[in-house]
Amino acid sequence: MKPLITSSLMAVGAFLLAAGPALVAAQTSTSTGGPASAPAVDQHGPTIKDAYGKLFLIGTAGDIPGNYSSDELRLIKENFTVVTPENCMKPGPVHPEADTWNFQRPDALVKWCQDNDIAIHGHTLVWHGQTGNWFFQDANKEVLTQRLKDHISTLVGRYKGKIRSWDVVNEAINDGGNAQTAGTENLRRSNWLKIMGPDFLPLAFKFAHEADPKAKLFYNDYNIEAGAKHRSSMVLLKRLIKEGAPIYGVGIQGHWTTGRVPFAEIDKAISDYASLGLKVSISELDLTIRGASGGQLGGGGGRGARRNTPASPQDLKAQADDYAKLFSIFVKHKESIDRVTFWGLNDRRTWRFGQNPLIFDSNNLRKPAYVAIVDAMLHPNHDLANPAR
Ligand code: XIL
Repeated sequence: MKPLITSSLMAVGAFLLAAGPALVAAQTSTSTGGPASAPAVDQHGPTIKDAYGKLFLIGTAGDIPGNYSSDELRLIKENFTVVTPENCMKPGPVHPEADTWNFQRPDALVKWCQDNDIAIHGHTLVWHGQTGNWFFQDANKEVLTQRLKDHISTLVGRYKGKIRSWDVVNEAINDGGNAQTAGTENLRRSNWLKIMGPDFLPLAFKFAHEADPKAKLFYNDYNIEAGAKHRSSMVLLKRLIKEGAPIYGVGIQGHWTTGRVPFAEIDKAISDYASLGLKVSISELDLTIRGASGGQLGGGGGRGARRNTPASPQDLKAQADDYAKLFSIFVKHKESIDRVTFWGLNDRRTWRFGQNPLIFDSNNLRKPAYVAIVDAMLHPNHDLANPAR
């Protein structure tokens, strides 16, 4: 669940509507919370969909249409070609008990996307998080395999032909790998692994493929672009391919921090995955602004809106520069990139609330990052696209 539009935002919106365009222009320069001297951002240039729509899918995550305002829904239609349900198709929300399915929000999302000609990326079939305990209760390998199969065939089957791609397994690799673990899959000790062993991965892919043979199937994880976890991801993906799992691509989540983005590793990781014959998605992109809050994650997860911490013009510029570098790399790899999806819509609807990570501010206005991303496509810069390794 995302933070609701608070009454204060609605009040700001109503005030702006009443005050007319002049005030909207003034608000542009201060809307991210920065001082009045923050540079005004052009709100009317080409959209990111104009700039990138022909290269790869460009997406946003959210449980739309839900409580989204008409402004927000318009923003989605104008800017994005694909939507990922942020929570409503995860095992916990959609299938909280063996005999309980909550299809209302997923159905509404699928209908809205179809009505508006926007593709859907399903998220996520197998995960250690947001998954009801009932899956694992009194389960041996056989019982859990059957529950997994029922879960996947019901969910993927319901939206057969409507959801173009799925994250089949999410975050199966351990954090904190080292030289020893790097040559192994280093799988997380989840209930899936404990009860089913490493077979749970290829089996999940098999069940998803049986339920919708045309859906494109992904393995999705964070921090897999660098270090020991990257090497483990290569070991795991090679096994899946060898065992005949119908895997189409790998999602690099992309929850990064301004000033600390591992550009060279990202550049190399995309090439590494492509060399296995896989497509790559940047599946959950957001770039927090360093120092903008305590750094806590998940602050926006439905526990009410916290005060948004102001970002300085310098912060916004540094964030824009890093986004421009990232997109320059993505353009260079466009043949291998399936999709780039932002994790949220604006700096209010984000799980990293308070850290200003996205390209629209809390009032749905374009931030400097937005313009920098469009510019990276319209005016390619070789140096940005080729970070030193
Ligand atoms: C997050 C959502 O954004 C939050 O609203 C929720 O409270 C927790 O999950 N990796 C993933 C996503 O694959 O599903 C997570 O989404 C963020 C990290």
